Amino acid sequence: MASQRFIITGTDTDVGKTVFAAGLAAALRAAYWKPVQAGLTGETDSQLVARLCAGADVSIYPEAYRLNTPCSPHEAARIDGCMIADADLALPDTAGNLVVEGAGGVLVPYRDDLLAADLFARWELPVILVARTTLGTISHSLLSLESLRTRAIPVVGVAFIGDHEPVAETAITQIGNCHHLGRLPFLDPLNAKTLAAAFSSNIRMDLLR
Ligand SMILES: Nc1ncnc2c1ncn2[C@@H]1O[C@H](COP(=O)(O)OP(=O)(O)OP(=O)(O)O)[C@@H](O)[C@H]1O
Ligand SMILES: [Mg+2]
Repeated sequence: MASQRFIITGTDTDVGKTVFAAGLAAALRAAYWKPVQAGLTGETDSQLVARLCAGADVSIYPEAYRLNTPCSPHEAARIDGCMIADADLALPDTAGNLVVEGAGGVLVPYRDDLLAADLFARWELPVILVARTTLGTISHSLLSLESLRTRAIPVVGVAFIGDHEPVAETAITQIGNCHHLGRLPFLDPLNAKTLAAAFSSNIRMDLLR
């Protein structure tokens, strides 16, 4: 079977991209890559994925950039006195399954002249948009979908995180004309076991093939 490779983006920072990416990487036995980690206090995204994929056949590529400040990559790089270079943002050289997590949302700057969406277009991988279900999500989700499509970036669909909000979920997927890939509820506790179980019962892997 051809390899399955996806970009995970979100409507915002902190929506649950890493948690979704970990669930997906474990389900696909994929490698995970976070090209730019901005913010190094506490658990990084790669460390969270490692923890949530414990026992699963998931490998993790090292970040191309590890920046100190938890803010937009372009600003985090400036603060650290470095410039994010195109050459460092080439996809890992693997023929296997791959899950790539972007920083923040679709139009986050990696440099003054490089947005997340520009990278997605360059990588030519299908994108999964992770969205909250709470108030405000409809506009953020539709704006994100519009931005992706303006650049002809293939969209697999939207994966939701949070409590079931049928009005928002339906509006986004109907008006946004895309697949509803399922919804991960808030998990308590959140660990490798609860995530794998929630992922397999709630996420439409059939729509990813
Ligand atoms: N399904 C879930 N159940 C329980 N907690 C969750 C779930 N999804 C996300 N969280 C929690 O919400 C927080 C943000 O999630 P996550 O790190 O996945 O967001 P993100 O979109 O990747 O953020 P960033 O933009 O910083 O990469 C984390 O503390 C995580 O533990
Ligand atoms: Mg993340």
